[in-house]
Amino acid sequence: MRSTRRALTAVVSAAALLVASACGSGDDDESRATTVEVFTWWAEGGEKAGLDALVARFAADCAGQTFENGVVAGGAGINAKQVLDARLRQNDPPDTFQVHAGAELLDRIDAGQVADLTAAFDSWGLREALPDGLVEGLTVNGKIYSVPAGVHRANVVWTNDQVLSDAGILLPPKSLAEFVGNLKRLRAAGVESPLALGRDWTQLMLLEAVLLSELGPQRFTGLFTGTTPWTGTVVTKAIKDYGTILEYSNADRDSLDWPQAQRLLIDGKAGYQLMGDWAAAELTANSFAGYDTFVFPGNGTAFQWLADSFTLTTGAANPDGATCWLRTVASAPGQQAFNARKGSIPARTDAPTEGFTDYQIATAADWKSGLPVPSCAHGSACSQPWQNAANAALGAFSTSGDAGVLQSALAAAAKQFIRRQ
Ligand code: GAL
Repeated sequence: MRSTRRALTAVVSAAALLVASACGSGDDDESRATTVEVFTWWAEGGEKAGLDALVARFAADCAGQTFENGVVAGGAGINAKQVLDARLRQNDPPDTFQVHAGAELLDRIDAGQVADLTAAFDSWGLREALPDGLVEGLTVNGKIYSVPAGVHRANVVWTNDQVLSDAGILLPPKSLAEFVGNLKRLRAAGVESPLALGRDWTQLMLLEAVLLSELGPQRFTGLFTGTTPWTGTVVTKAIKDYGTILEYSNADRDSLDWPQAQRLLIDGKAGYQLMGDWAAAELTANSFAGYDTFVFPGNGTAFQWLADSFTLTTGAANPDGATCWLRTVASAPGQQAFNARKGSIPARTDAPTEGFTDYQIATAADWKSGLPVPSCAHGSACSQPWQNAANAALGAFSTSGDAGVLQSALAAAAKQFIRRQ
């Protein structure tokens, strides 16, 4: 299958994109591939439920095209991104791949691996339908290279209400200090690992949440634009507090992906988990309803956002089919179907909210009224090499506990990669 694709590989021109925006227009060309390989890391549970909903829309929208599941499991694309790298290097690209909106795509744009989607983006009315800030986040040198499917919030804490109430904790903590107090209280009540945590990138999420509490939204964002130094004393204090919180997490954190960490919460072995709001769909997939959520203590109205988006690879074997996939992703019904299952909110402001939970409705309101801040762990703030360096530094700290080394490594990563934003 892939070799047929490679034989058909051609660089996609802007003109081809416009032609392709009338889906299925090339059906009479027998030599054209009709399989669209969509590369994601949504392999199971709530993530797969979201993907399946999008695939059903694609089948209805793009007659004559067949979805091929190019999926590589592993939260936040930790494995998929490596496989994608290798495939792109070997000139074996999928037709379209999942990426986070923002800085994460910069290197692939520089390498000419993704097509300019500006003309299609405009013809589908996305410039009007998406919030201005998101369009800005997607724009690189005046061009658009990916189409967002939905927006997730990263800085959310998920609870096991039974575990908390057994320890006498009935309200969400209002500050970081109170949160640490609750972790201590849970431990004293016999909960060995009050905070469920997973591997490196989930640890980066936790550090980002702590940094956001201590620096505030503006100075937090400045860490990624160069206006806030990583060497400052507030960062030192945040790392110290992060280290304290880490002591209340499960000792096997470095070997767990996020759904396995979530399992600790579901099984009543932990009281809290910090995770993006894809956690809701996974909890539903596991039939667990005994939870609540709150924004990470001290984050105020900061909405740490990330947007799952799709690209068109320049080497796509089936650019017409892939463009039809993107058109489904971009459409209001596509976003309604996908986000209702995935737990995110539509990137479009005009998508119907039918089938959405109360949490999603409230999050959509927060997205409008809150202060948007980007995420490094999920690519809206950091380029991919920066993200990799930060993940590695957090993984090392998890074993060594050396705060000075962590701060130096994070400062060095910022210094090395900040020019690329
Ligand atoms: C994020 C992605 C989400 C979810 C999560 C866990 O990076 O944007 O959609 O899949 O990883 O895998």
